[in-house]
Amino acid sequence: MSIKVLILNGPNLNMLGQREPEIYGDQTLADIEKLCRDQAASLEMEIAFRQSNHEGELVTWIQDAVDQIDGLVINAAGYTHTSVALHDALKLLSCPVIEVHLSDPQEREDFRHFSYIEPIAARVIKGQGAEGYAQALKALASIAS
Ligand code: DQA
Repeated sequence: MSIKVLILNGPNLNMLGQREPEIYGDQTLADIEKLCRDQAASLEMEIAFRQSNHEGELVTWIQDAVDQIDGLVINAAGYTHTSVALHDALKLLSCPVIEVHLSDPQEREDFRHFSYIEPIAARVIKGQGAEGYAQALKALASIAS
């Protein structure tokens, strides 16, 4: 039976490619989705890949995933540093959660140093660019199987 994984992307990640390429690189979110789909196929994983600019929509998707998935990958983007609501929603999940960031928030402005996702995350992958998503799927394959 294949592992089911939900990959969630937060605000402004739909603008990758045009958004601060010196920080985030020139890959678009569609490129990252393709990379995830290729990695998932090699791991025999079933994935859903979503992005929203709306905190409540991300919360609803997490709630809807309760008991439906074997792992969650989340790049909560700016909400990483602000969202108690996402922190609370993630606590509903019994499956492993992997936090991903393209950049390394610890090496950037002070306001990016705190993460509301980290206390819930089985692993945090940061500063690896798009490749971090593939690493997150590999980590889930070893934890969730
Ligand atoms: C980010 C880092 C966050 O601090 C920032 O708000 C983002 C992207 C990353 O992937 O590096 O939007 O999550």
